[in-house]
Amino acid sequence: MTDHPLILTARMHAHPESSHTIATYEATGGYTALRTALDMGRDAIVEEVKAANLRGRGGAGFPAGVKWGFLAPARPAYLVVNGDESEPGTFKDRQLMERDPHQLVEGTIISSLANEVNHAFIYIRGEYPKSARRVQAAVDEAYAAGYLGANILDSGYDLELTVHLGGGAYICGEETALLNSLEGRRGEPRLKPPFFPAVRGLYMAPTIVNNIETLSNIPWIINNGGNAYSAIGPEDSPGRRMCSISGHVNRPGNYEIVEGITWRELIYDVAGGIRNGNELKAWVPGGASAPWFVPAEHLDTEVTKAAIDSNGSMTGSGAVIVMDHTTDMVAAAERLVRFFAHESCGLCTPCREGTTWLDMILRRMLAGHGRASDPDVLYDVSDNISPGVTWPPKMTTICPLGPSAVSPVASLLKHFPEEVAAAVERGTQVPVSIGIRS
Ligand SMILES: Cc1cc2nc3c(=O)[nH]c(=O)nc-3n(C[C@H](O)[C@H](O)[C@H](O)COP(=O)(O)O)c2cc1C
Ligand code: SF4
Repeated sequence: MTDHPLILTARMHAHPESSHTIATYEATGGYTALRTALDMGRDAIVEEVKAANLRGRGGAGFPAGVKWGFLAPARPAYLVVNGDESEPGTFKDRQLMERDPHQLVEGTIISSLANEVNHAFIYIRGEYPKSARRVQAAVDEAYAAGYLGANILDSGYDLELTVHLGGGAYICGEETALLNSLEGRRGEPRLKPPFFPAVRGLYMAPTIVNNIETLSNIPWIINNGGNAYSAIGPEDSPGRRMCSISGHVNRPGNYEIVEGITWRELIYDVAGGIRNGNELKAWVPGGASAPWFVPAEHLDTEVTKAAIDSNGSMTGSGAVIVMDHTTDMVAAAERLVRFFAHESCGLCTPCREGTTWLDMILRRMLAGHGRASDPDVLYDVSDNISPGVTWPPKMTTICPLGPSAVSPVASLLKHFPEEVAAAVERGTQVPVSIGIRS
């Protein structure tokens, strides 16, 4: 791996009982970055974050400093921190919010300062009550200590920070649906273009949306410098990042990794290998929306953004879901597709209808009623949602949720055609008069 010290989880490892309190945070260097940032001023903070080449950890991996540069000059402007974290297999932001909320609050204050924002929001998934309690407590402590509110540390800078609980839907993690939800509307994505959040976002004012993990890196970057951050790991995706590993490994959990190791090292050394000595069959490299990887092609490729992209998938939300040889891949695809079908907000026909049809076909195959035409129909429905079934996906939809449902289906058809054929074969042996086939 690397001998570079932990950044995001250092405090929670060193002080497991009290890492969430302001006393422990301040005793371990907390809020020194804020004092430094207040002296540096806006432009110098942005330069450090650009030098760090800190990529967003919410899914798309867009560099945070570059995104901040897009913020339109009109004021007021807002910073919204995305803690909706609902992508299956992803549970890293939860740990950062529960175990080191002041690191997030300090990162949010510095980022607000850098973007000339006087009101920021932390939007937390509705099903994360402990995260919400811990973050709210940290915000209250920060107000009491003079790190938030009017005239922060006598600097003349004012910032209000509001904690808001999410609407209980996966789509509320998509940044424009999140903004609608924050405004009290239905959590449905907005059309982009014409308006992007950096120009017209919350209350139609310029808005930056960043992920919890992204902003939790900011205090370290200010304390140590952007160049020190960009020197860690690969040039194109430097720093440390959280990786939630789940599924059939011996040691599932959150790991703070430096990119550049291989998948073999990540799955076997970091996560302890496959349960019961079983064979590795496939894994999802970056959250449920990401195309699957298989050992024969990918086990010795690198865990870097560049390598994952060029191998036809994505780092995404940093969630790795590992499946061993006992996994029924048709069932695995169905479980993922069912999630997306359930979470489709319904605005776009290809997503609303297509995800439901994909799920119904897969369920029928699993129930023993597969048809010879199923592989073609699965492909055809996928093609209607995401033309050409390519990666990166093309879209007929307002947001990427629709194409996300195509990833498991395309992965199933590409890597496990024999399991699809077996499900079809089982179906052809069932009398036509039974069940759905009749
Ligand atoms: C369907 C969908 C769900 C998403 N869910 C989340 C989420 O839970 N958390 C998150 O940070 N980003 C999520 N995103 C990405 C956000 O739209 C946005 O890109 C991100 O919050 C930006 O932060 P970053 O630049 O720091 O990564 C989601 C995107 C889509 C399309
Ligand atoms: S793609 Fe799906 S989730 Fe996204 S806006 Fe359209 S219907 Fe809603």
